[in-house]
Amino acid sequence: MPRIRNAKLLAKRIDLQYFTHPHGFRRARFVLSIALPLLAGAWLLGERAIGNTKVYTSGPISAAHAVLGKQCAVCHVRQADFRAHVPDTACLKCHDAPVHNAKQTSTPSCSSCHLEHQGQIKLAATANAGCTQCHNNLQTTDGKTDLISHIGGFDRDHPQFAVLRQNGKDPGTLKLNHFVHLQPTLRGPAGAVQMQCDDCHRFAVTQNWPYSVATVQPATQQPVIVTPALNQQRKRREVEVGANAYGIPIRYVNQCAACHLLQFDTLITEPAPHDKPEIVRAFIRQKLTDYVAANPNVVTMPIDAGLPGNDIEPRRNILRPEEPARVITPTRVTPQEWVDQRTATAERLLWSKNCRLCHAVTEGEEGALPTKVTAIIPTRWMPRAEFDHQPHRMVTCTACHSSIPQSRLTSDVNLAGIELCRDCHAEGGLKAGNAEGRCFECHSYHDWRKEKLTKGSFDVLQVRGKGPAAPPITAPTSGTQ
Ligand code: HEC
Ligand code: HEC
Ligand code: HEC
Ligand code: HEC
Ligand code: HEC
Ligand code: HEC
Ligand code: HEC
Ligand code: HEC
Ligand code: HEC
Ligand code: HEC
Repeated sequence: MPRIRNAKLLAKRIDLQYFTHPHGFRRARFVLSIALPLLAGAWLLGERAIGNTKVYTSGPISAAHAVLGKQCAVCHVRQADFRAHVPDTACLKCHDAPVHNAKQTSTPSCSSCHLEHQGQIKLAATANAGCTQCHNNLQTTDGKTDLISHIGGFDRDHPQFAVLRQNGKDPGTLKLNHFVHLQPTLRGPAGAVQMQCDDCHRFAVTQNWPYSVATVQPATQQPVIVTPALNQQRKRREVEVGANAYGIPIRYVNQCAACHLLQFDTLITEPAPHDKPEIVRAFIRQKLTDYVAANPNVVTMPIDAGLPGNDIEPRRNILRPEEPARVITPTRVTPQEWVDQRTATAERLLWSKNCRLCHAVTEGEEGALPTKVTAIIPTRWMPRAEFDHQPHRMVTCTACHSSIPQSRLTSDVNLAGIELCRDCHAEGGLKAGNAEGRCFECHSYHDWRKEKLTKGSFDVLQVRGKGPAAPPITAPTSGTQ
């Protein structure tokens, strides 16, 4: 039978009710749209049942807080509006974070600078925006500021460092001539020496200073114990004990003694102690008293015999050597007079020559002790920033202090300016092959000198999220922000 193919028959093959019958794909889609949320819900409930809250997070938690990653409630505090925000009080429960500056007009929240859930990053590495929101146009509570008030970035409009900008002078009063001490043939304790920077300046604890003299000890001053306390002026939190961001203080006993012994009398081998004038006087007097007791005949000699330039031989006039030597008739004095007079001579020599080599000495009345001997040596040149010599060990000292070898006066300032720092510290930081260029690298935000101790307030289970939820967060145990 031939096949009949006409339009009517063909039309009949089309199911006109097709839209009323469910299609396999559509049904699957429908089933899935119900089942998947249910499954997800069940999974979430399951995870909740086993106490895993990670599934809700918007990203991995920072490295320092990784241990808290299972217990969201230590940071996210449920509040009246049911959203679990992160209030500053939550952060302050575990660590104090002192306020930045008493004159700031607002207080940004912790989480506006320390971004969580961004991966295993360093939280303290905050973006410049956290700072420039204020420092781009600095406002203060009293409307006054001595600071440059527009700073947008280190390699853009960051000002030159104040000490250089204002042509500052070294306010130090200890005399030192770098040029003289860096000569290749400086007279050392045993022949010529070439001094190095680290013979006087070091940045880590050390015992053996090459020019210290073990027997010379300050009588009343305590030996230097290098602890972070020496960095008191530093705002940054100290982590490395033993390393010094700034130099270990210059001390006569450590760095100068071997070449500048305080010899005061050729009859006495011991030098004077390096100390306050009254202690020096007492020492000299004691030594001379002991000497005259051991050598009673000394009182029959000329009073100034044995002092530098004098001897007990008959004296010749140096200007007229052809004249016969003058024999000085010994005058007999009491031991007491001998000690008095000889002490006076030794003191004159010390105050006006030895001490004055290094100090500004304000001499008193004839025979009285100097009223003032000062040794101010500044340790901070850039108090508004943090600096650390340790990470810069790779470059020579003179790369940054290039004018030191020519510097003859204490009042010289021999520090590098901002241009030199910009050669390495620049925007883009490590990713662009530079040293870090963001503000936090060189400045503290928190004034850590004011840090208060926080007491622990959780038990291990509460922190690890395996126990009951953390207790509701109340007022911070401590916290100044
Ligand atoms: C160390 C503290 C800390 C812990 C622990 C923590 N978070 Fe957060 N979380 C934050 C901060 C800070 C923010 C951003 C500021 C905000 O939302 O108040 C944030 C934001 C969020 C956001 C985005 C919400 C929003 O408002 O934008 C989610 C979602 C989130 N966290 C989930 C979690 C979950 C889930 C956990 C536990 C697995 C968790 N977090 C643990 C500190 C924390
Ligand atoms: C349950 C306790 C706890 C809470 C809550 C907490 N932290 Fe921490 N935080 C720690 C611990 C522990 C460390 C690591 C040890 C240390 O440096 O003191 C740390 C370290 C830090 C660091 C330094 C580490 C880095 O990567 O730079 C910063 C910054 C910090 N926390 C900020 C915050 C902020 C902001 C909050 C609130 C959103 C917060 N913390 C909440 C316990 C906590
Ligand atoms: C304007 C930005 C900003 C705000 C707001 C801020 N911080 Fe910081 N925070 C920093 C910077 C920058 C550092 C690193 C420099 C320093 O130590 O001051 C830091 C360091 C820290 C550290 C120590 C890091 C370390 O190395 O030990 C902790 C802890 C910390 N902040 C917690 C907090 C807490 C808690 C709050 C809220 C009360 C807060 N911060 C608010 C910028 C900020
Ligand atoms: C809420 C506003 C505000 C924020 C945010 C802020 N500062 Fe300040 N900052 C101030 C005020 C106000 C002063 C004090 C000005 C004065 O003493 O005249 C100040 C002072 C300073 C000083 C001089 C410090 C001193 O000891 O005299 C430095 C450096 C500084 N801020 C750096 C920063 C850095 C870096 C950041 C970001 C981590 C930052 N600031 C964030 C307001 C702010
Ligand atoms: C004999 C010991 C001695 C030697 C060697 C020495 N210094 Fe000094 N330096 C001092 C003393 C003491 C001071 C403090 C007096 C002053 O401010 O000039 C000082 C101060 C400084 C200062 C801060 C004050 C200023 O002038 O800017 C710098 C920087 C410095 N020295 C760098 C160096 C460098 C770099 C070298 C090596 C090339 C060096 N010093 C070698 C003893 C020494
Ligand atoms: C070669 C250099 C040098 C000579 C010489 C010297 N001093 Fe000093 N003096 C120093 C240095 C360096 C210091 C810094 C602190 C220290 O050494 O303990 C100092 C500190 C002092 C101080 C403490 C000052 C203060 O501001 O606190 C007194 C007091 C002092 N010397 C007295 C003397 C007397 C007295 C003499 C002479 C008998 C003398 N010095 C000779 C280098 C010298
Ligand atoms: C290696 C030996 C040596 C050491 C260590 C040393 N000095 Fe000197 N110093 C000398 C010599 C030598 C002279 C005399 C140089 C000359 O006049 O030619 C001198 C001269 C001085 C002068 C006079 C400089 C001038 O302008 O003429 C002062 C001030 C001085 N020293 C201070 C110090 C201080 C402070 C220390 C310790 C921080 C110190 N010296 C450490 C060897 C030393
Ligand atoms: C990257 C540049 C740089 C290098 C390299 C460097 N300094 Fe400094 N130095 C500085 C800056 C910046 C300051 C001021 C820091 C401050 O006061 O905050 C300083 C301060 C000093 C001071 C005075 C304050 C103090 O610490 O007593 C001395 C001394 C000093 N440097 C010696 C040295 C010596 C020695 C070396 C070599 C081992 C050296 N510096 C290498 C940049 C540098
Ligand atoms: C590579 C180190 C470095 C970086 C990065 C840096 N600074 Fe500074 N900043 C300094 C030094 C050093 C000083 C000089 C401090 C002084 O004179 O006591 C200074 C001074 C300042 C001052 C005081 C200005 C004045 O009036 O003298 C402010 C405010 C300041 N910086 C803010 C910032 C801000 C905001 C950023 C980020 C945009 C930043 N700094 C980045 C090193 C740095
Ligand atoms: C030769 C390159 C170089 C120069 C020049 C240089 N720096 Fe650095 N600086 C570094 C490196 C590298 C680090 C450590 C790595 C890092 O943090 O990026 C560092 C770290 C620092 C730190 C952080 C120290 C800490 O507390 O850990 C400060 C602050 C700093 N530099 C300030 C300065 C200042 C101010 C100058 C200019 C006087 C300067 N640097 C010049 C390379 C340099």
